[in-house]
Amino acid sequence: MKIFLDTANLNSIKKFNDMGLLDGITTNPSLMSKEGGNPKDVMEEITKIIKGDVSLEVVSTEYSGMIDEGKRLCKYGDNVVVKVPMTPDGLKACKLLSSEGIPVNVTLIFSANQALLAAKSGAKYVSPFIGRLDDVGQDGIHLIKEIKEIFSNYDFETQILVASIRHPVHVVDAAKIGADVVTLPPAVLDKMLQHPLTKIGLENFLSDWEKLKAGNPNVKI
Ligand code: G3P
Repeated sequence: MKIFLDTANLNSIKKFNDMGLLDGITTNPSLMSKEGGNPKDVMEEITKIIKGDVSLEVVSTEYSGMIDEGKRLCKYGDNVVVKVPMTPDGLKACKLLSSEGIPVNVTLIFSANQALLAAKSGAKYVSPFIGRLDDVGQDGIHLIKEIKEIFSNYDFETQILVASIRHPVHVVDAAKIGADVVTLPPAVLDKMLQHPLTKIGLENFLSDWEKLKAGNPNVKI
């Protein structure tokens, strides 16, 4: 399963990329707004840091605007994936951009039928938002199971990019289903790195080493 980071924060991107964890990045207008600065500069910088796919989202809601913006976004780097919303105009833009070899991520997917239609339009990725479904009392992970089954039944090449992930259990559940990609907020990836027994175990190792050194002050590794 690929891991993308769901952020436009350059420090977080560099931090996790240096650990070799990142296969790509997803951004959206809310994440861009949170970081401030000139979005064009931030987007270009992200495409330079990360080798894998970087999703950059259009803000137009009608077809021709989406196409113009999508083609401009592609110039920010060779690894740009144009993100369009799950609307009729979004799917029309997805079809045109995909037919010209520009990869598209269809975002704001909340049902299996929406995922099916986005795949039919030629999307490289569909982004179901599981946390937002959980928030309204629907089962986000169940949606991933449904999409996985449908895409497997018909050998769709479209990849399931699980978004709106809120905690590490979402990640384990998505991996067990066989989702292609999870996109994680930095805070979730931080939590996945940690376990209290790792912390306690390391503290014990270091304190035992100090005891050994107390008897042999010149000891070194
Ligand atoms: O990429 C966008 C998606 O992950 C949104 O997450 O937490 O705003 O529902 P959230």
